[in-house]
Amino acid sequence: MKKTRIGVLVSGRGSNLQAIIDNIEKGSVSAELAVVISDQADAYALERARKHHIPGVHVSAKGYKGRRDEYDALLVKELQKHNVELVALAGFMRIITPTLLTAFPHRVLNIHPALLPSFPGLHVQKAALEHGVKFSGCTVHFVDEGMDTGPIIIQAVVPILDNDTEDKLSARILKQEHKIYSRAIQLYADGRLRIEGRRVVVTDNRTETDEFLMNP
Ligand code: GRF
Repeated sequence: MKKTRIGVLVSGRGSNLQAIIDNIEKGSVSAELAVVISDQADAYALERARKHHIPGVHVSAKGYKGRRDEYDALLVKELQKHNVELVALAGFMRIITPTLLTAFPHRVLNIHPALLPSFPGLHVQKAALEHGVKFSGCTVHFVDEGMDTGPIIIQAVVPILDNDTEDKLSARILKQEHKIYSRAIQLYADGRLRIEGRRVVVTDNRTETDEFLMNP
């Protein structure tokens, strides 16, 4: 069967990228990484890509201030050049525009370190701690034109402990990010995701449960 070709957009350390690479190499995700693109020349994620013989491309945003559409057109060109079917944002620190979304309709995913729709935006682990919620977690969703608003595919929940710091909580969440991003990609690759309005339905899903979590 033809493997889904993925393009990953990054800006920094790329631990989510690494988890996807590892899961593909282990055979637990059946997809192919076609290209990794960074807006930052020195992103460690690019090195990770190259170490695994995946093309790592820097697309500079210099000179594109206030011209996000034009920058996204460069991304689209690069993604198409590598025959990408699915785009995965993994710590990509730019807001993307309809230029990218119309080129890849319902084919752009993002991972966010909170339980959306709570705490969209940046520094969300700190925001969750300060708000005093008892659980946080992470979300993989389809990207739409809003900020972290697209249809949710999968979420993982972690407790927030009384002695938590932003770093401790971030690490606990990141561990789950590394699992659910690959899982979402596998569901996509298997053709099991169907978008119905705001809801993403996983076809052939047999999970039924009345369990709940309570903290403390
Ligand atoms: C992750 O926390 C992700 O949820 C957020 O940016 C961070 C990227 O981390 N969107 P990494 O570069 O994958 O390590």
